[in-house]
Amino acid sequence: MKKFLIYFFTFWALSLVAIVSIAGFRGGLSRKPPLEVFPDMDRQPKLRPQTKAAFAGFGDGLSSRLHVAGTVSREAAREAGDFATGKNADGSWVDAVPVPVTRELVQRGRERYGIYCAPCHGVAGDGNGVTTKFGMAAVAKLHDERLIKMADGEIFNTISNGKNLMLPYSDKLDPNDRWAVISYVRALQLSRLGKKEEIPDAVRTALK
Ligand code: HEC
Repeated sequence: MKKFLIYFFTFWALSLVAIVSIAGFRGGLSRKPPLEVFPDMDRQPKLRPQTKAAFAGFGDGLSSRLHVAGTVSREAAREAGDFATGKNADGSWVDAVPVPVTRELVQRGRERYGIYCAPCHGVAGDGNGVTTKFGMAAVAKLHDERLIKMADGEIFNTISNGKNLMLPYSDKLDPNDRWAVISYVRALQLSRLGKKEEIPDAVRTALK
C-alpha cells in the first residue's frame, strides 16, 4: 500500500508538471525571444514589399521593383481592340499595322524577327531557317504572293495564336513587338518587290 501511494503521488506530481509546462503559459506575453531549437526560416534575407530597401544594389532604395523591360503581360494578351487582336470591331482583319510605323519599330521588328522567326522562316524569309535541317517541314515562305496580299491583322493572328506546326508567340512578343515584326516582314517582302525607280537617286547611282 505504501509503495502504491509513492507511485501514485509521483505520477500525480509529474502529470501536474507536464500539464503546467504544456498548457500553463499559453497566451502569456513575454518580451524575451522564444527558445529557438530549429530556427527554420524565421529570419530571411528578404525585402518586404513597399518598404525602403537598405540593399544598395538597386540604387533607388525601393524594395518593389518595376518589371524588367520587355516583360510580356499575360493580361495584355486578353485585351480587346484591334491593337491586341488584329481584328476590327466587326471581326474582319485589320488591314495595316495600327501603330505608326517608325524606323525604330521596324528595327525592333528586325531584331525580334532574328530571334523568334528566322530560326524557321530564314533570315530573309525564304522558309529555309536552320530548323528545316532538323526536320521542321513545310515552313511558309514569307515572300509567297498569298502572304504578301494577306492583311496585317491575319499575320498578327498567326503570330499570336500559331498555325498548324507553328506555335503561338504571344508569350514572347507583346502586341507592339508583334506589329514591329510584321512591319519588318513587310520590309523584307518589299525588298524583293521594289522597282529600280523607287530607289532614291543618290543610292541608285551608287548601285551597278
Ligand atoms: C518553329 C518554327 C517556326 C517559327 C519559329 C515561326 N514560324 Fe511561322 N510558320 C512555321 C510553319 C511550319 C508554318 C506553316 C504553317 C502551316 O502549315 O500553315 C508557318 C507559317 C507562318 C505564316 C503563314 C501563315 C499562313 O496563314 O499561312 C506566317 C505569316 C508566319 N509563319 C510568320 C511567322 C513569324 C512572324 C514568326 C516569328 C514571330 C514565325 N512565323 C515563327 C514555323 C515557324
